[in-house]
Amino acid sequence: MGSFFIEGIRNLEGIVEIGGSKNAALPIIASTVLSGREYIIENIPDIEDVRMMFEILTSMGCIAQFENGLALIDTRGLNTHAVPEDLVKKIRSSIILMGAILGRTGNVEVAYPGGCEIGLRPIDLHLKGFKKLGVSICEKNGILYGKVNNPAGCEIQLDYPSVGATENIMLFAVNTEGKTVIYNAAREPEIVDLQNFLNKCGYKVSGAGTSTIIIEGIKNVPTDTIDYKIISDRIEAGTYLSAATTMRSKIYIKNIEKSHFKSITSLYEDAGCEIREAYHTIIVTNERRIKALEKITTQPYPGFPTDMQAQFMASMAIADGTTIIEETVFDSRFKHVPELQKMGADITTIGRVAVVNGVKRLHGAEVDAKDLRGGAALVIAAIGAEGMTKVNNIYHINRGYEHFMDKLRNLGVIITAIEE
Ligand code: EPZ
Repeated sequence: MGSFFIEGIRNLEGIVEIGGSKNAALPIIASTVLSGREYIIENIPDIEDVRMMFEILTSMGCIAQFENGLALIDTRGLNTHAVPEDLVKKIRSSIILMGAILGRTGNVEVAYPGGCEIGLRPIDLHLKGFKKLGVSICEKNGILYGKVNNPAGCEIQLDYPSVGATENIMLFAVNTEGKTVIYNAAREPEIVDLQNFLNKCGYKVSGAGTSTIIIEGIKNVPTDTIDYKIISDRIEAGTYLSAATTMRSKIYIKNIEKSHFKSITSLYEDAGCEIREAYHTIIVTNERRIKALEKITTQPYPGFPTDMQAQFMASMAIADGTTIIEETVFDSRFKHVPELQKMGADITTIGRVAVVNGVKRLHGAEVDAKDLRGGAALVIAAIGAEGMTKVNNIYHINRGYEHFMDKLRNLGVIITAIEE
């Protein structure tokens, strides 16, 4: 399971290089199944979730591996349409393979992904989109069986701008005869990156980044090698920005796309952080205790991202004043609250609303990471807490943050890890 030990009250100073976006990499890795060819992809983060996706592709007859920081994927050897059940259970975002496998083989077998630490995670919008596009889906003993019957492009209205549903529908529609329009599509930058990758592969997608995505189905694309570079991870960048607010700090956050990051940086500027922008770098200076922000609500992009809610709460836990945080995207994404309370945070939750009364300082404690972003939030809280904090179950954190401990050490954090 593994634990971090963090000694608090450390001013942060130095440079952190942001890696490739986990949430751009996973759908792009899935999309390599669509057409059997070789892919050389730069900036894919070397994290547990990516390695799990590589393991799934390899178990299905493909080649998927890291070589000197590059991801080498070759999907010509795909020899099944069944995704190994034990692996789906390990990484629920593997459901994103459904659209690509259906598009490539006309069939798919995949275990129904369970809920996870942050909520039920239904996939009804994915399945509704596939059915409209001419796929028959049935479920038996927890396995989903999909079969392409009479595929045809169509108009799909998403009830909610689901990131995964938008991506899965895109991945099936790109080689489905006719024109598909997705209304109320998710607008996240990771969707734009997927569109750019698909177009580089020879498909025809437009509108990503807006609520309406248009896909002209193309049956056969060339099979030459594709090279591509993934966008940087805006949530990783926001996580280090959060860490800078817990102490006096001056840090340089490099390799970011500023436009993807606006909803995050603007909040921290309102809280009193000084943020100066260079081209792909921001310089964050924090000289004093940050101010509470009256009310923050998580929203689909371009609103404040749910993936930053826990880290932001850790910052507000020691801010001057009271902040109300409303989590509107997932139904149970406050599992970090009891752990922050063990460190002395004054937080009350009612349903999806948390009232955070900032205290001057937290104190070290033994706490348990319950999910990826909540775990990162506990580390952030520990940096600004009196004394030593032990964060258990750090495998949650290693799922999504590349070289997390090394990057924090480079900023002056005293942190060690033990694998239990
Ligand atoms: C993606 O998850 C991200 N994961 C999540 O990041 C992120 O929090 C989320 O989008 C929202 O931005 C990846 O990209 C791998 P959704 P996804 O479908 O696609 C409901 C992280 O920490 N919904 O946009 O699963 C769902 O229950 C992770 O990096 C349905 O009701 O998110 C949720 O309440 C966590 N039916 C809301 O929509 C569906 O068919 C948003 O889910 C699909 C979703």
